[in-house]
Amino acid sequence: MNGNAPPVSLDIRDWSVTYAGGGRQVHAVKNCSLSVARGKIVGLVGESGSGKSTLLMSVPKLLPAGAVTSGRIFCAGQEISCLGEEEINRWRWRRVALIPQGAMNSFTPHLTIERHIYEVLECHLGIPRQDRAEKAAELAAMAELERDALYRYPHELSGGQKQRAALALALACAPDFLLADEPTTALDVITQKDVLETIASLVRERGMGLLLVTHDLPLAAAASDSLVVMKDGEFVEQGPSREVSHSPRHPYTRKLVAAIMDMDGERR
Ligand SMILES: Nc1ncnc2c1ncn2[C@@H]1O[C@H](COP(=O)(O)OP(=O)(O)OP(=O)(O)O)[C@@H](O)[C@H]1O
Ligand SMILES: [Mg+2]
Repeated sequence: MNGNAPPVSLDIRDWSVTYAGGGRQVHAVKNCSLSVARGKIVGLVGESGSGKSTLLMSVPKLLPAGAVTSGRIFCAGQEISCLGEEEINRWRWRRVALIPQGAMNSFTPHLTIERHIYEVLECHLGIPRQDRAEKAAELAAMAELERDALYRYPHELSGGQKQRAALALALACAPDFLLADEPTTALDVITQKDVLETIASLVRERGMGLLLVTHDLPLAAAASDSLVVMKDGEFVEQGPSREVSHSPRHPYTRKLVAAIMDMDGERR
């Protein structure tokens, strides 16, 4: 990267999402803006229902029919929010990959992990059959998933292994940006830390940008360069992680931090 050039980034500008249907409207995301530069981690935190998943799913246009968006999203300077289904499909996985919320429970039960990876390699990269096994092994190594786990069915893996398998899948097309929705939820604290460390080192080594959604503020603060706090569809605070977690300005962030301090004064 040229030292004088601005960093390549994923830019979300004045982005809003409204779910319409069933006679009621939900303004799930309201006029939100953020940037994720390659090689950086942005943590997105907020309570349940604040709009985190809606925002994430809307980037690769994976919202259900009936969801209406406004604003603009740019990936490395090119607007992707205006792309049609066929065009955005070329960006998904390859430029912007997603680990959706609950990914570890979304595997097809009768397919081995290797089969899941093969399908992505075939559909999105057209990698010939004879080269797929080697590529799958390479991806497992990157995600620090034991090679043996590739040949097993989802129900034969632990939660941590399934999250690593979801990570291997997301990395299949060497994306520039990764959107990870609660990638460590439902794991024990040691495994959470290990999985997050794997993701964070991949981000640094590969110069990927990561938008990391979690409701765990201390976890996000420890892993991220900057933090965005979301409440009722709005970004109420954003800034360098240490600043936001140690000197929160918005009353809601203060409340979030205080709640954590109440649970465990040492966690920060
Ligand atoms: N398909 C949908 N149709 C209508 N409303 C929806 C839909 N999906 C989400 N919502 C609403 O949008 C709002 C934001 O939901 P979202 O799932 O984005 O929150 P979240 O921050 O990811 O929550 P959590 O931490 O529990 O995962 C909520 O009010 C939710 O009820
Ligand atoms: Mg969610």
